[in-house]
Amino acid sequence: MRPDPERARVDSVTVHSAVSVITTKRDGGELSDGQIDWVVDAFTRGEVADEQMAALAMAIVWRGMNRRETARWTNAMINSGTRLDFSDLPRPTVDKHSTGGVGDKLTLPLSPLVAACGAAVPQLSGRGLGHTGGTLDKLEAISGWQADIPVKQMRDMLADPGIGAVVCAAGADLAPADKRLYALRDVTGTVESIPLIASSIMSKKIAEGTGALVLDVKVGRGAFLKHIDQARELATAMVELGTDAGVRTVALLTAMDTPLGCTAGNALEVAESLDVLAGGGPADVVELTLTLAREMLALAGIDDIDPADALADGRAMDHWRAMIEAQGGDPDAELPSAKHTETIRATRTGTLTRLDAYDIGIAAWRLGAGRARQGDPVQSGAGIEMHAKPGDSVKAGQPLLTLHTDTPEAIPAALDALATATTVAEAEFTPPPLLLGRIQA
Ligand code: URA
Repeated sequence: MRPDPERARVDSVTVHSAVSVITTKRDGGELSDGQIDWVVDAFTRGEVADEQMAALAMAIVWRGMNRRETARWTNAMINSGTRLDFSDLPRPTVDKHSTGGVGDKLTLPLSPLVAACGAAVPQLSGRGLGHTGGTLDKLEAISGWQADIPVKQMRDMLADPGIGAVVCAAGADLAPADKRLYALRDVTGTVESIPLIASSIMSKKIAEGTGALVLDVKVGRGAFLKHIDQARELATAMVELGTDAGVRTVALLTAMDTPLGCTAGNALEVAESLDVLAGGGPADVVELTLTLAREMLALAGIDDIDPADALADGRAMDHWRAMIEAQGGDPDAELPSAKHTETIRATRTGTLTRLDAYDIGIAAWRLGAGRARQGDPVQSGAGIEMHAKPGDSVKAGQPLLTLHTDTPEAIPAALDALATATTVAEAEFTPPPLLLGRIQA
């Protein structure tokens, strides 16, 4: 076959352009707006090859991007798909995003709670990968509940004063450039870059069409970021991106050395969220839910309602039930439970001084609560119940942890992960504060 001269010319221009973008960044230069728009668009269309984008991502990991470049990159990823717009709703929209932690079920009670206080909460969520859980996996433990719903249904749920909140999967057309790029970064060691992480998260949140956003940036052993300085840097970059895009944005830095609440695992976390919505639940989950709700309501301009009242008088529960039913779920259905359990007991009397979030997350994942690869199934009933939290007194022989799984062959690997997850000592222990910082533009 004779080569097509026109095709060869286009390919050589593309290769040349991609190489010039890569080398600009490799050599520590600033990418121009035109270079960023072109490379993100050409990558989305498949014109820039994966190996070229991976090389560029690695150059960005090393050289970074400044505020202008990061904002332009974010915008280019938003423009690769559809940007939703809920600005015509009769109520202000506000969302929350967590960078992910162990036992972080806060979206479940928080979304209906904030809706019960008068805001509309459009929350596009994800599935879990690795040791942190995913909100959609948790909600899918509820019989009949559907994560994939059309935008028209989202809008109807948000407009309905009896619902006001929607938690669902992002459609394929929401920042498709980020979907491709994130998958590539995941396998090329290029996730760890503040501008790439910030633009990845914020492109999806800005494209989702929320008017305001509270970011819950987790720090510690069970979080994606282990050090407060990194978390502050990421939070600042995300607040700047949101603010520059016209989304009122605040970030809270919150502790994730210990799991949130007393459960890690999908159905177990739904059950615990129902306790919170019923006016009970673990103190740390209630505290953080109310802290985030107050921030969200303040950004939405709602300052005359205390979310604690809406939890106590059942309004948040009413919105939860309506939200679940609208997506096909049965709020009264019995939650799935695992076929096997195994209990770990305290070997001495004292105070629990450590309950390691990372170890608990890994063990819950090994028990079947999480997935190793995108698309793997998860077990709804699998996970870990924690019978004591740091600061609690424990007696030798009392249950500390209960492991839940349908696959008992997973238990030895989970026990392995938990070998040093807890410390019981003869010491007073006051748990450190949950809230570590707050960043606003
Ligand atoms: N979460 C995202 O959505 N993107 C990242 O780059 C990292 C975490």
